[in-house]
Amino acid sequence: MVDVGQITKLAEKEIKRSVSLDVLSKLEIKYLGRNGEINKLLSAIKNIPDEQKKTYGQRVNKLKASMYRYIETRKKELQNKKSGVFFDKTLPGKTYPKGSLHIVSFAIEEITKVFEKIGFIRVSYPEVDWEYGAFESLNMPVNHPARDDVETSFIDTPAHPKLGKMVLTPHTSNGQNREMKRVGKPPIRMINISKCYRPNWDATHTPMFHQFEGLCVDKDISIVNLKGTLDYFAEKYFGVGTKTRLRPHHFQFTEPSFEVDISCNNCGGTGIIKANRCKVCKSGWLELGGTGMVHPNVLREGGIDPSASSGWAFGFGIERVIMMKYGLDDIRNYYSGDIRFLEQF
Ligand code: FA5
Repeated sequence: MVDVGQITKLAEKEIKRSVSLDVLSKLEIKYLGRNGEINKLLSAIKNIPDEQKKTYGQRVNKLKASMYRYIETRKKELQNKKSGVFFDKTLPGKTYPKGSLHIVSFAIEEITKVFEKIGFIRVSYPEVDWEYGAFESLNMPVNHPARDDVETSFIDTPAHPKLGKMVLTPHTSNGQNREMKRVGKPPIRMINISKCYRPNWDATHTPMFHQFEGLCVDKDISIVNLKGTLDYFAEKYFGVGTKTRLRPHHFQFTEPSFEVDISCNNCGGTGIIKANRCKVCKSGWLELGGTGMVHPNVLREGGIDPSASSGWAFGFGIERVIMMKYGLDDIRNYYSGDIRFLEQF
């Protein structure tokens, strides 16, 4: 008679000693396969005396159940050994911190979308330019005192005989002449976003910052179009209900020139919160930047006839609009590299 006990012992020993999943799967076939040992034991039941058949059948079935258990247990042991760690697939996976756009890059994308929606074309003109692009083409001849308004960083290279020295652009207005020459004939709708450089360092000034410059030139363009565009931008970027106002100012490249203010969203443009002065604006208004109607000399220098076309331009600081939108008080934080500050946006 077949010795079930002996086979049980042998199977247990072999399974425990199996060194790999391959060996284990061979043992699984050897014992539990169609022609395996368990089935051989079951078919041998016909040779067992009737009175012992019941006990014999129970013992073989018990062996079969144990065999499944031994194999499953050993399989898990070998799998864990293979991966080197205990792997519990029911535990939630690890989550890693995700990167995101820097607030300045994010604002550039937002501002670009606002202007692209009304037909402006995004350009990015050089942040290292000749004096001609940064000043002369903008009605600011050499030695003009208006050049002192923007302190400029010059590059230590030989000057161009016609275009002057190389400079780190102090504003994005250098894109005006380039865009007029690139397009050739109005209509022009440009949004120039680029880095600018001025030697300043305080809560509202950094030596490197970004400006976005709008330029619109066509037939019969007036201050009405300018005001409408500024109102549109203010509502889209700062929120519904944000108003703009123009205050007279002076720029050499626009006539007339203005400074643009937007109504403060912190106090709803009243300057007062619960009988106290609004801490963000103090007056109900926040200064956005400069604007005006493009000076005829600037149009002429760009190859455009000022008697046939007119235009407006504006130049605003990206860091400043972010500051106004989120009520931040120090733009130097943007470039501190402190991830705790940047993670808030
Ligand atoms: C100009 O730069 C003009 N080119 C703007 C302009 C364009 C006027 C077209 C008319 C027509 P201003 O120097 O005021 O203007 O600078 C514009 C904005 O740039 C400022 O309001 C401010 O938001 C930002 N800005 C200037 N200097 C810095 C700086 N160092 N750091 C951060 N932002 C600055």
